[in-house]
Amino acid sequence: MDYLKREILLTTGGFITTNLLSACGKKKESKFIRLAFNENPLGPCKEAIEAMEIARAESPSFSGLNRYPDFLQGCIMDNISTYHNISIENIVCACGSSEIFNIVAMVFGKNGETFITPIPSFSLPEKCASVWGMRIERVELAHDHSIDLDAILEKVDNKTRVIYLSNPNNPTGTIIKKKDFENFLLTVWSINSETIIVLDEAYCHYVNDPSYFTGLNYINEGPLIITRTFSHAYGLAGARVGYALTNKKIAYEMGGLEVKSLSEMGFHCKLGANINRIAEAGANASLMFGEAHIKKTKDLNNSVVTLYNKAFSELGYEYIPSQANFVFVNVGINGNNTQAYLYHKNILDTGFNRYS
Ligand SMILES: Cc1ncc(COP(=O)(O)O)c(C=O)c1O
Repeated sequence: MDYLKREILLTTGGFITTNLLSACGKKKESKFIRLAFNENPLGPCKEAIEAMEIARAESPSFSGLNRYPDFLQGCIMDNISTYHNISIENIVCACGSSEIFNIVAMVFGKNGETFITPIPSFSLPEKCASVWGMRIERVELAHDHSIDLDAILEKVDNKTRVIYLSNPNNPTGTIIKKKDFENFLLTVWSINSETIIVLDEAYCHYVNDPSYFTGLNYINEGPLIITRTFSHAYGLAGARVGYALTNKKIAYEMGGLEVKSLSEMGFHCKLGANINRIAEAGANASLMFGEAHIKKTKDLNNSVVTLYNKAFSELGYEYIPSQANFVFVNVGINGNNTQAYLYHKNILDTGFNRYS
């Protein structure tokens, strides 16, 4: 724990150079090594690229870009349903899992109720909760740098509406133990049966620990939302597709927000057309044909993480063994300054100073 109190820098396993700024045509080409976003440097699988190319190039027609996507999201729903062996009524698709976090806060976060999050962890869910007026409660990690479920339990009361857990946790790359999670669910729901637990599995594909579990098996035990994304191992961060898996009641509440007028005309629109045709094509192909690509991605990540770990050990830097595609390392100097220094070297990375 001590070293977490000192200055910390996060770095990632994947990297890529890009002409990010020139892409908008306004600035000169600028090259960055992108360590900050946990993207897949390999990009999507070739089948996804082909599918997106077809979707993009389809001339104005029945299925061209002049047409809205399928309001029922039938194709991607079916694919996710088959992939997880789950009913489509348990699925909510979104523009990245980021949209799911926003929907959760928007739908369930009214009345100043509490949102509990570990710290450090992925900050967007907390930001969404804050925007929608929730009271934020942050709970520091445990001594072994894992999420401190016992400390979170101490905060749970009848005002606790949402608890966010990232498994593996971004930025530390630690995972939750199955037994601890099961006890946690039972205890939380015995204190407050309305508390929604959001289990973010954005980096599940990278995990090597054989004891890792998915929360999917628990979605009918109580209010639990599993989030998944195509942004990381599937290499589709720019396409923006994510989804939630949860019980039918919660899925309905999350999806029944918009396009009421169309619903009255007979559409069951859920969130409307929030996934565009090109992104949907890429996501569908990734689910159907992406397995070998995921393995290749994982192998690459394992070799890069091993290299990082070796380098950090040689430099005498403490780091947390990661189950994801990023590594949390103590560089012993101010994290934010280090981030700024790296930025000037055209390296995008995430720096943390003490977080307590
Ligand atoms: C833990 C975690 N969850 C979710 C996301 C966002 O995923 P998406 O691109 O699907 O919005 C990120 C992005 O970095 C993340 O680190």
